[in-house]
Amino acid sequence: MQQCSKCSLREGCTQVVFGSGNSEAEIMFIGEAPGKKEDASGTPFVGAAGKFLNEMLAEIKLKREDVYIANVCKCRPPENRDPSPEEIATCWPWLLQQIQIIQPKLIITLGRHSMERFLPKAKISEIHGQVTKINLAQIGSQNIFTLYHPAAALYNGSLRETLKKDFQKIPKVLQKIKKNH
Ligand code: URA
Repeated sequence: MQQCSKCSLREGCTQVVFGSGNSEAEIMFIGEAPGKKEDASGTPFVGAAGKFLNEMLAEIKLKREDVYIANVCKCRPPENRDPSPEEIATCWPWLLQQIQIIQPKLIITLGRHSMERFLPKAKISEIHGQVTKINLAQIGSQNIFTLYHPAAALYNGSLRETLKKDFQKIPKVLQKIKKNH
């Protein structure tokens, strides 16, 4: 992945932001793409959105070391623009390999771009805070829990409350998945 130059994002970024956390995690968070701080540090979610994510994790008694965190795009888009569908598609084989290695019991998508990679027709306003079971090519059955992006919720009071409420559901959602296995 560090050597990848399959799309033009690599030319404009400092480094490939691989992912971080526990490779045996039950929960895998998938965000959008690195921002400025992530590009500089090489670690996903270390800026303001990352701080908010850490706070929400702490509220459900989890640490970053307990989960795995990655993005649908591993390289920072210029000026923090949204990654294009082509860039997301080009980066997909890397994310697929990460999912295959980690084999999470629950994938939690952060934001619309990540959600759409797994649930292309879904509307985030309709399915946030819900689990959808999908059949993912080359992976098999996978549970997807959809959340709003912490960056979008940071400065929007009502979205922030919704995200926090949805986040609180995670332990029970995971428990239920494990019981049904
Ligand atoms: N936003 C994301 O989607 N990913 C990061 O790594 C940081 C901010």
